[in-house]
Amino acid sequence: MNGRASANLLMDVLCGRQQAIPPVWLMRQAGRYLPEYRELRARAGSFLHLCLTPELAAEATLQPVRRFRFDAAILFSDILIVPYALGRNLSFEAGEGPRLNPIVGSRALAELRDKSDQAVLSPVYETIRLVRRALDPDIALLGFCGAPWTVATYMIAGRGTSDQAPARLFAYENPQHFAQLIDILVDASIEYLVRQLAAGADAVQIFDTWAGVLPPDQFTRWCIEPVHRVVEGVRRQVPGAKIIGFPRGAGTALATYVDRVQIDAVGLDWSIDPEFVRERIPRRIAVQGNLDPLALLAGGEALDYAVDVVLSAFNDRPFVFNLGHGILPETPLAHVEQMLKRVRGH
Ligand code: CP3
Repeated sequence: MNGRASANLLMDVLCGRQQAIPPVWLMRQAGRYLPEYRELRARAGSFLHLCLTPELAAEATLQPVRRFRFDAAILFSDILIVPYALGRNLSFEAGEGPRLNPIVGSRALAELRDKSDQAVLSPVYETIRLVRRALDPDIALLGFCGAPWTVATYMIAGRGTSDQAPARLFAYENPQHFAQLIDILVDASIEYLVRQLAAGADAVQIFDTWAGVLPPDQFTRWCIEPVHRVVEGVRRQVPGAKIIGFPRGAGTALATYVDRVQIDAVGLDWSIDPEFVRERIPRRIAVQGNLDPLALLAGGEALDYAVDVVLSAFNDRPFVFNLGHGILPETPLAHVEQMLKRVRGH
């Protein structure tokens, strides 16, 4: 441990101070596995209305922290709010995931705003202000955005696909146009994160859910470089901003990502080998992860064992306990309790 301790465990870890008991939060901790979320979601009507009504979004943000006393709250919103603010249609069909109007050829790019509409995003900043006021100071508030590549994959296809082939194909066939889209997303992401930090987010996470589908040279060009520019752009306006990167599925390219992108912590998906992390991720960078969400769903001895494996892998460095990806909607609440007891040692 180094430096002065504060009451905020998560921020301590992001400042490089190892904790005896790691702070813990879960990706997608506000969501359908919580009965109070399902009730709020039904009351809100549409998912978009829930995201863009500050009082409702603040309530969704606070629900999991109230129930489990996680060490962080994460803003309740979605990575696809940015394309919405760039003028794309967006809807969330029940049981089907997000739908946007797809980008086909360069004509659709011309229709795109080159700057996000801050009037659309202002409820998000208001949500952060409401949550920060309601939240204990020892609990960190995280803002977030999607990485330009991941957001672009949904914008091109107009939906989630199993391997994001439409965006990969588009990037091969129209690299100039794809670069234009990425540039727009880099600028929009910088402004979005800077304003989240100004509104009271303590740190931000950049979700690159689809980092794992690209060959190495394309990974450098479309994932690493844009995220590097986002991080630099945010720090130019908010020096010392604390940033967590999560390049899901990066595999061994994680080392290249961490060398280039100046993040404070890196999120590990559950496939990452701790031995690789020990050898290739410098200790000045905190790590966050990486319990398999299926182990949490399974519960029982398998869960205890999986928690112990994660704890023993990373307990000798600044570490945030989390899942390797979002919590599954079918996860029993009792399994979350069991996991927390195991992590916190009581
Ligand atoms: O983590 C949190 O609790 C904060 C809120 C949050 C949501 N989405 C709410 C949400 C965050 C951080 C996200 C990020 C997000 N959104 C990502 C990156 C992280 C990841 O999970 O990979 C991605 C790829 C999206 C896009 C997205 N939003 C998809 C593919 C879907 C459909 C799949 C699903 O889980 O339903 C969504 C919808 C969504 N975003 C829901 C929630 C709570 C479910 C919608 C509902 O309640 O009906």
